[in-house]
Amino acid sequence: MDRTETGAWTATPGTAPREVETALTVNGVTRSVRLDTRVTLLDALRDHLGLTGAKKGCDQGACGACTVLVDGKRVVSCLMLAAQCDGREVTTVEGLGEGGEAHPVQDAFARHDAFQCGYCTPGQIMSAVALLAEGRAGSRAEIAEYMSGNLCRCGAYQNIRSAVADVAGGG
Ligand code: FES
Ligand code: FES
Repeated sequence: MDRTETGAWTATPGTAPREVETALTVNGVTRSVRLDTRVTLLDALRDHLGLTGAKKGCDQGACGACTVLVDGKRVVSCLMLAAQCDGREVTTVEGLGEGGEAHPVQDAFARHDAFQCGYCTPGQIMSAVALLAEGRAGSRAEIAEYMSGNLCRCGAYQNIRSAVADVAGGG
């Protein structure tokens, strides 16, 4: 790898970017894909597996729009390499809910009108699912703190917190 005059990384002339066979298990389905080692999990999901639920906002780990679960823990998929997920369980917003029914968090977001444009919503929902599993939804202040990595440019925060509190049983 070399840097160009603008500072971008580029493959050294004469060397092919290194690719690896990666077994990605996403929403319970395992698929083997050949990917450049520099491909992020977010780009692998969206561009190689056709799962566009996770959104690309900042592509720098700052907005949370790309949040998915890896082995049940939330991660910003723009900062994780797809190759790091070989053999691990990835869950995206498409994998929530069962039998055609919405997941309780999805249902609560709809009932509480917890979005406007909806761009941040998949990441908010994935973060909320993990937060509830982590037992971090004891109060609105705690929900706000532990959802603080998920930004909403529409400012739907109050309704998002209401939706999460509803599922947590806090009303
Ligand atoms: S796109 Fe990943 S954190 Fe913003
Ligand atoms: S609903 Fe528009 S960014 Fe959150």
